[in-house]
Amino acid sequence: MKSDYEYHIEIENLCTWFGEKQILKNITCYFEDSSVTAIMGPSGCGKSTLLRSINRLNDLVDSFRMTGKIMLQGENIYAPDADVYELRRRVGMVFQRPNPFPMSIRDNITYGPRLHGLHDSDELERIVEHTLRRAALWDEVKDNLDQPALNLSGGQQQRLCIARALSIDPPILLMDEPVSALDPISAAKIEDLIMQLKKDYTIILVTHNVQQAFRVSDQAAFLYLGELVEFDKTKRIAEAPEDPRTEAFITGRIG
Ligand SMILES: Nc1ncnc2c1ncn2[C@@H]1O[C@H](COP(=O)(O)OP(=O)(O)O)[C@@H](O)[C@H]1O
Ligand SMILES: [Mg+2]
Repeated sequence: MKSDYEYHIEIENLCTWFGEKQILKNITCYFEDSSVTAIMGPSGCGKSTLLRSINRLNDLVDSFRMTGKIMLQGENIYAPDADVYELRRRVGMVFQRPNPFPMSIRDNITYGPRLHGLHDSDELERIVEHTLRRAALWDEVKDNLDQPALNLSGGQQQRLCIARALSIDPPILLMDEPVSALDPISAAKIEDLIMQLKKDYTIILVTHNVQQAFRVSDQAAFLYLGELVEFDKTKRIAEAPEDPRTEAFITGRIG
């Protein structure tokens, strides 16, 4: 279903602070349906802060303050009457370190749907199989669903975390350096998975790895010291960066 809004997520003049320190400076960008946007930039430039603004995870930090707007299908997610619980249902997140819950593989997947009030066991089983298939993990774990998730390898744990994020069927998936803690083979599997998932999700992928950003993304944002230096189709940025700082980053001279 296509919405009436031009873009799924729009960020307008976002500024954020932790205490006195300004982290993001006047960020304006948008994220389309069925696409992967890479947010790249050196460590400490504000990539995670930008990502965490989209599901309001920064709100958990007492010293956090922001101005500007983030619109999700035309609704400001920071409006006084915005429902953060509903927001988090629409925005799934995968972190840098795989963080399965200390419970079985099956329970990791059913946890979210149960929390949202689903208790029908057939339906829960269907979600377990469906999301594990989507995360390209089903064949490896289908006979061990009652085993502890923490017994899986790092790469399998990360695919489980992706399956867990998909279990409540959010249209948006935020991924914060999801492969940087993994070996190259596991990382490649997850990159493939991102490319398969993108037709059904709005994916925002934070990475400090330029080659990865170029391989998997349709649009890319380059953040530097809290500023959005460049934001465009990935192909254009890869072929002809406009800003010297972007060029320095993609050629490995900074970062
Ligand atoms: N919870 C926090 N409290 C205070 N400062 C923070 C917090 N999280 C991040 N920062 C600061 O914000 C800046 C940007 O961090 P971050 O968004 O994590 O960068 P990146 O993901 O690009 O490495 C850094 O200077 C970092 O120290
Ligand atoms: Mg980060």
